[in-house]
Parts: sequence; structure tokens; C-alpha cells
Amino acid sequence: MLKGLSGRTAVVTGAAGAIGQAMCARLAEEGANVVAADVAEEPLRAVVSTLPSKALAVRADITSDTDVTTLISAAVDEFGTVDLVVANAGVECEVHPVAEFSPADFDKVFAVNVKGAFLTAAAAVRRMLHQDSRGKILFTASLAAVMGSPGTSVYNASKHAVLGLARCLALEVGGTGIRVNTLCPGVVDSRMMRSLEDGMGAMGGADGPTIKQAFEAQIPLGRYASPAEVAATAAWILSDEVDYLHGETFTVSGGLRP
Ligand SMILES: NC(=O)c1ccc[n+]([C@@H]2O[C@H](COP(=O)([O-])OP(=O)(O)OC[C@H]3O[C@@H](n4cnc5c(N)ncnc54)[C@H](O)[C@@H]3O)[C@@H](O)[C@H]2O)c1
Repeated sequence: MLKGLSGRTAVVTGAAGAIGQAMCARLAEEGANVVAADVAEEPLRAVVSTLPSKALAVRADITSDTDVTTLISAAVDEFGTVDLVVANAGVECEVHPVAEFSPADFDKVFAVNVKGAFLTAAAAVRRMLHQDSRGKILFTASLAAVMGSPGTSVYNASKHAVLGLARCLALEVGGTGIRVNTLCPGVVDSRMMRSLEDGMGAMGGADGPTIKQAFEAQIPLGRYASPAEVAATAAWILSDEVDYLHGETFTVSGGLRP
């Protein structure tokens, strides 16, 4: 068991997705009280029904300040404190060159990935400053936060913004005892990657499985990460095993480098 997770209240956004689901499972296995949030209500309830420890499902759209504030209040009402907040919900973009990009898709991706992460972190900080135990905030950015790739400019730009947000927040709240860190998964075996592989394939005249093989060939470990491997890293960062970590950026990429 990792130190400092048992009995803590962990809020995870995007909890119905591949990585969020794995994070909820891992944090629950470590004994945390999990508050699982997602805009997709039915899959969210299915996730929560499988968790071994106390858990609460909250339907929340992270682009809404009201929803996010209500989410944090619901966690406090149920469990008394909010100790760990993972701003994990995110969406992929359509894959097109910059010149052909859809402004509507830009707005959608930035609303969820940037505004949503911002609102989640802001609501978490407001709560954590008013409780004795401060707490930890973890952003799920991406390897796309530290590199470029053709066709996914909007997603990469949104994740660069998440990293900028995390860096500023870490400087603002370091003195309060709140810890802020960022996780940057590389390529994870998931629905999101199937969507991006198909989009990249369509842009480059290949099929999705060919794109996947090309990714695997670039990764020193030769394979994608599983959501559970990403979740294990998140749990470690959120634990008290590594309490001096603050303002850090962790890639979980099988050795893939920008
Ligand atoms: N899958 C990957 O390879 C990969 C790699 C690097 C980073 N990431 C990042 O990890 C995070 C999780 O990715 P995933 O693979 O689990 O994706 P996913 O699509 O499986 O899950 C994302 C979840 O976010 C939810 N969501 C979307 N918009 C929302 C909103 N407005 N409010 C609340 N919830 C909302 C979706 O309903 C979904 O359940 C994302 O931030 C993603 O950008 C993923």
C-alpha cells in the first residue's frame, strides 16, 4: 500500500474514460474514498459500481463552473474533505493540418482541456485552503504538452496550456502546503488513441493499425502503456511516499521522448 492514500478523499474527473477509470480503481484499491466525475453519466455509474472502497458518482461537466463547484461540495458533503484532485478529463481533437482546422473543434477542445482543467483546479484550491489538511492536485496533460506532432495542433496546444496552468498554480500555492504536479502519458492503449490513429491515418493515407505500428516502432519499450500503468504512476505521485514532489512534470511514455 502506498502511504497517505487510505481514508483520503480523491476526486477524479473523466472517471468514465480509460485512464480515469483506472485511476479510480487504483485509488480505491489503496483505500481512498473516490468521487468519480464525468459528463457521461451511465458509464460513470458502471465504473463506480465496480470500486472496492466507498465511492460516489457525480455527473459534472467540467466546462461549467457551477458543475465543478457542486462536484467539490458533493465530495465534502459525503466525505468531509477533498484531499486529492485529479484534473483528468480531456478530449482529443480532429486530425487536420492547421490551415484546415475547424474553429468549432478548437473551441470544444480548449473548453474541456484548458477551461475545464482550470475550473477544476480553481475549485479544488478554494476548498483546500479552507481545510486543515491541504491536499494535492494532479493534472493529466500529455506528452503532447511538451512536443509537437503534425495534425494534432489543437490538442497539443491545449495540453501545452494545461502544463502552463500547472506551473503557475504550483508557484502560487507552494507556500500553502498544496502540492501540484502534472502527469504526461505518452500513448495509452485506449479509445482516444484509436480515434487519433484513425485521424492520423486518414490525413497521411494509411490505416489506423499502420499508424499504431509506427508509434510502437518509435517507443523504446515497443508498446503502448496500459491505463493501469498510468494510474499506478498517478497514485504514487498523489501518495505521501513522495511528499517533496511539487511543480513537477512526469512523462509516462515507455521512453518515448520529444
Ligand atoms: N489515451 C491516451 O493515449 C492519452 C495520452 C495522453 C494523455 N491523455 C489524456 O488523459 C486523459 C484521459 O484520457 P482517456 O484516454 O481516458 O480518454 P477517454 O476519452 O477515454 O476519457 C475521457 C473522459 O472525459 C470525459 N469528458 C469529456 N468531456 C468532459 C466534460 N466536459 N466534463 C466532464 N467529463 C468530460 C469523457 O466523457 C470521458 O469519459 C485526457 O486528458 C487525455 O487527454 C490520454
